This record gives sequence, structure tokens and C-alpha cells, in this order.
Amino acid sequence: MSVRICSLDDIAVNSAVRVVIGETPIAVVKDSSGDVHAIGDTCTHGDISLSEGFVEGKTLECWAHGSQFSLTTGKPITLPAYDPVPVFAVSIVDGDVYIDPTPTFPT
Ligand code: FES
Repeated sequence: MSVRICSLDDIAVNSAVRVVIGETPIAVVKDSSGDVHAIGDTCTHGDISLSEGFVEGKTLECWAHGSQFSLTTGKPITLPAYDPVPVFAVSIVDGDVYIDPTPTFPT
């Protein structure tokens, strides 16, 4: 079941915010196109919050060692991380952002 996170306008373009649904930390990202994505917030290389990193195109870069994670697949595009983070379904309803906290690992 999807959970309302915030208003779409609450997230700036090219930025990420950290939310926790249940015990699942999620990075909610608005890219330069205004599209919103949700991926696991914990880097798979270390215990670092990805939402503290950098949005670049359709990726979120970990500030610690520079791995970039795809916002669409959760897969790391650059080392040193090699395991993906989960991806969560996002829906926009009446200007509000909703996330389904069910983790997926798109291929
Ligand atoms: S902790 Fe994220 S790349 Fe190393």
C-alpha cells in the first residue's frame, strides 16, 4: 500500500530527501526533468545515506566513494559498489508524492 510522503513541490529539482517507511530508509529524488524516483537510501558499499549525495541525470551518487546508482534500476553504474539498492514505485496524485514501500530489483 502506498504511503503519502510529501507534496511534489516540497522536493527541489536535482535533490534528494530521506524518508523512512516502517524501518525502510528510502531516498526520494527529483531529477532535472522533474521526475520523482525512490531507491534504497543505504549505499551497498557502506553505511552511508545516499540522499546526502549528489543527483546527476538519472543517478544518485554516494558522497563517500563516488558510486553512482541508477534511479530507475537501483544498480550501481560505477564502482566500488557492486550490489544494487532496491527501487520503490512512485506515484503522483493531486500534486502529492506516494511511495509503495515494497522493494523491487528491476532487471
Ligand atoms: S560507501 Fe557508498 S560508495 Fe563507498
